[in-house]
Amino acid sequence: MLRLLPSFLLLCVACQLAAAFTDGLLPNGNFEQGPKPWQLKGTKVAGRDAIPRWQITGFVEYIQWGQKQGDMLLVVPEGSYAVRLGNDASIKQSVKVTKGVRYSLTFSAARTCAQEERLNVSASPESGVLPMQTMYSSNGWDSYAWAWLAKSDEVEVVIHNTGVSEDPACGPLIDSVAIKQLFPPRRTNTNLLKNGDFEEGPYILPNTTWGVLIPPQIEDDHSPLPGWMVESLKAVKYLDAEHFSVPRGRRAVELLAGKESAIAQVVRTVPGRRYALSFAVGDASNACEGSLLVEAFAGEHTIKVPYESKGRGGSKRAVLQFTATTARTRVVFWSSYYNTRSDDLSSLCGPVLDDVALVSVRYPKHA
Ligand SMILES: *[C@@H]1O[C@H](CO)[C@@H](O)[C@H](O)[C@H]1NC(C)=O
Ligand SMILES: *[C@@H]1O[C@H](CO)[C@@H](O)[C@H](O)[C@H]1NC(C)=O
Repeated sequence: MLRLLPSFLLLCVACQLAAAFTDGLLPNGNFEQGPKPWQLKGTKVAGRDAIPRWQITGFVEYIQWGQKQGDMLLVVPEGSYAVRLGNDASIKQSVKVTKGVRYSLTFSAARTCAQEERLNVSASPESGVLPMQTMYSSNGWDSYAWAWLAKSDEVEVVIHNTGVSEDPACGPLIDSVAIKQLFPPRRTNTNLLKNGDFEEGPYILPNTTWGVLIPPQIEDDHSPLPGWMVESLKAVKYLDAEHFSVPRGRRAVELLAGKESAIAQVVRTVPGRRYALSFAVGDASNACEGSLLVEAFAGEHTIKVPYESKGRGGSKRAVLQFTATTARTRVVFWSSYYNTRSDDLSSLCGPVLDDVALVSVRYPKHA
């Protein structure tokens, strides 16, 4: 038995190498392995294959923690290194996946100088453009999620800065590129909504303390938050219980851009039947203090749920009862107010939403 063990281990290493990637940081996804000294001109990376596991095009810089740009200190979110995508620059890696399965991509990005930056992210042949208009987190870094359906067993994951600015070096810093397999959530007999507890969603890097932004779906069909769509203009934030106060389970969402970021799901309903939409509203323990207000909609029915936040976590439950008037009812949540963190007035924050359930209710007949 003991003599068999080493060869068994070897076999398993081999089978892991051949298997499709499922969850976590891509190989050298945090760019800790960098170019050789002769493959760098200052900070500019010279050579398509200079960064192990990646292929680059255009003006890509290799950035070390603490490096200065003018009077700005460049901070790297994970480890000691990150890359910067200048004008029309891209990074790319081939990843083995499983055809027909949905995946989400998570990466961290920070703007450096350009006012408005857009990244074209793709997993061949699908792509989407993510705007990074607003900095939500206090250290300048945010993580973004995007999702796609694998059309083959190998995809090229590309992050491309499509912007062109006067200074060719201007462009976002990128770090911590990870992917995660998504499992399509199902309705259950206790909840007509899918993924009502938000437990299924994009990868959150264990060492990032600022959650993941789920951008509005401007042109994509696949949501990194299965079952849900982010409507309107701005992102919602996906939170983990490791770094935030979450009403139930391991995950929740923060509605951080007022009525500009709404989260929605369409459910089949029977006209004339009574339903109860229940949910938890709270704060993430992230210094989001003051009066928070969540508005929930089920078709034309609505409820406003106020929540007084001390910024230290907590939640309450609310229920919207309604009679369906159509065969499909749109369930929508948004924050009525714009809130900012008391420890950083430039960081948007908002109420936390979790544990959303829709059930059909029957009333006992009155005598
Ligand atoms: C984004 O990149 C993909 C793949 O390179 C490309 O097919 C697509 O046209 C690009 N989209 C935009 C808006 O540039
Ligand atoms: C997270 O940080 C810890 C402590 O700094 C480190 O040991 C660990 O390797 C990091 N994990 C990842 C995935 O980078």
